[in-house]
Amino acid sequence: MRALLVDPAAPAGLRLGTAPDPEPAPHQALVRVAATSLNYGEVASLVPGAAPGTVLGWDAAGYVERAAADGSGPPVGTPVVTLGEAGGWAELRAVDTQFMGVVPEGADLGAISTIPVAGASALRALHRVGPLLGRRVLVTGATGGVGRYAVQLARRGGAYVAAATGDPGGRGEALRGLGAHAVVGDPAEVDVPLDGVVDLVGGRQLVTAYERLGAGGVLVSVGHSGGDDEHFPHGVLYGDQGRHDRAVVSFHLLGCGGLGRDLEWLAGEVAAGRLDAGEAWRGDWGDAGVAVEALRGRRLHGKAVLVVG
Ligand SMILES: NC(=O)c1ccc[n+]([C@@H]2O[C@H](COP(=O)([O-])OP(=O)(O)OC[C@H]3O[C@@H](n4cnc5c(N)ncnc54)[C@H](OP(=O)(O)O)[C@@H]3O)[C@@H](O)[C@H]2O)c1
Repeated sequence: MRALLVDPAAPAGLRLGTAPDPEPAPHQALVRVAATSLNYGEVASLVPGAAPGTVLGWDAAGYVERAAADGSGPPVGTPVVTLGEAGGWAELRAVDTQFMGVVPEGADLGAISTIPVAGASALRALHRVGPLLGRRVLVTGATGGVGRYAVQLARRGGAYVAAATGDPGGRGEALRGLGAHAVVGDPAEVDVPLDGVVDLVGGRQLVTAYERLGAGGVLVSVGHSGGDDEHFPHGVLYGDQGRHDRAVVSFHLLGCGGLGRDLEWLAGEVAAGRLDAGEAWRGDWGDAGVAVEALRGRRLHGKAVLVVG
């Protein structure tokens, strides 16, 4: 099969080449990939450190080519959205049926391919915040792949949504279009108290956002795009002035169970036009390097979709 292979000598560290077809385990289906999307984490952290010839890729959408031998998962020909630790950047992917959701017939598989890491992380992070109806939520790094889904889903859940971006003047309108009530350049500008934070940046933004939480508030630390350490100055963790029982919880998507059901629900929402896929770039997978460099350079805000084959 053809695949995007890690190659340190190639531009952006990736080239189209050939790799052996994957051999599915009994609980895995073989999927013919139609589209995949890139995530900041994999292009920034995984590509530079992976062995030459590795086939990476967390997200992929396509059609079941061979159903799982153990009878789990959908039959041959079903359009599906899939998540895995690797193997999405290829024509064929072996994928655990528990990390697969059925997609409505006729859906745009490019848009659907943006869902697995970005959409499911946003959904599960908001579950960790708790009930959203009538509550106040901040999303940091809101212009990125996860952030755009988080803003929309928090709004759909009935929350007042504040979105933080490094460029509120330039990107604020788009975030308001996704449902943000307020767009800020820094968590310090958000009206208090907050009930929940989905933090995608880390560092000082995480600490400042934590300080904005009211009693019982939860900050879900999903991402660390800023790459900076978190320092909690003396006093920030005091539970005084009624601000008790606040929490910071860490998050790892692939440690979550039952993701197939989430992927399926999200695919239905995107297919019906009730959720925006946050697509910022779409191109042939032979041009993956362009999108990879743009993501790494922070010039691309949202999802990059690669059309496969
Ligand atoms: N724990 C998990 O399971 C999990 C799952 C998914 C993602 N993640 C992590 O969550 C983070 C967000 O993922 P994503 O796919 O949404 O990334 P993304 O598309 O690159 O978005 C990140 C956003 O953060 C903002 N940002 C602020 N400071 C930044 C900096 N120094 N460098 C880069 N971006 C910065 C940018 O928005 P502005 O420029 O508008 O401020 C950017 O749009 C990543 O760190 C990723 O690794 C973790």
